[in-house]
Amino acid sequence: SFNLPTDKVILTHPTGATCEIKTFGATVTSWKVHGQERLFLSRLSDLEGNKPIRGGIPLVFPQFGKGPLMPGQHGFARHSTWEYMGVSKDDDSEIMVSFELRDSDATRASGWPYHFKLTYLVTLTATTLGTHLAVTNTDKVPIRFTALLHTYLTTPDISQVRIGQLGRLNYTDKVQNNLICFEERDQVTIQGETDRIYHSTPDTVPVEVAPGQVVNVKTINFRDTVVWNPWVEKAQAMADLDDQEYQQMICVESGSVHESVTLPSSQTWEAGQVLSVDSE
Ligand code: BG6
Repeated sequence: SFNLPTDKVILTHPTGATCEIKTFGATVTSWKVHGQERLFLSRLSDLEGNKPIRGGIPLVFPQFGKGPLMPGQHGFARHSTWEYMGVSKDDDSEIMVSFELRDSDATRASGWPYHFKLTYLVTLTATTLGTHLAVTNTDKVPIRFTALLHTYLTTPDISQVRIGQLGRLNYTDKVQNNLICFEERDQVTIQGETDRIYHSTPDTVPVEVAPGQVVNVKTINFRDTVVWNPWVEKAQAMADLDDQEYQQMICVESGSVHESVTLPSSQTWEAGQVLSVDSE
């Protein structure tokens, strides 16, 4: 089932799983399974639409990070208001809703002047949350973009977090001036400020957020995985993150960001992720 106040959509699965999506940024702000919240949302996040939401799953498009495709950081999708398109499926197994964003005067004035259509599908089952993006080039020329699902998972304690399947991969280290490094560890743990783009990552990245509690991040057609935690000083510098909250979050972000995507006129590019927890 679902309900629709003006600015957010709430999905409820018969098993009790729920998720909430704001039309602002099409940002998923909550996902609960077995009564437990799985996404991190900062208690200082601006939820009034003045700033991108600090937590949940902000959607990064058409530019990951700063430049070169457009000015600013992480593109306009996360601070644009999307149109809710309604329910496309609602049965005992899953509930699916969709959102749409088309170019507007504001997006064309942003420095990325193209015509496009984005469709975002959010699918809730008993133990999974799917988020699927389709980009259609409605312009006459090819468009170039990067795209990413900036997923904030919640953890009781960052020192317990272990991320698998990233060993023996190259990554771009954004805290070392974009130095290309090689991951030696089988399990990535977080001991300080971390901001890395792991290149060409496997389809499923398991994130142990607490001992024995795993969120699997499965991707479809996204190439890379960003791992981010701001740690002490960056957290202090962020107005919408409480000083201690870096200890309760880990961002594991599926995207195509290391190299941009070029999409010819009239074509559609699709990618997505499915988060799942084991039936506990
Ligand atoms: C991550 C980037 O994806 O997002 C980091 O790799 C960045 O460099 C972080 O700091 C948060 O970005 P923002 O714009 O939401 O503060």
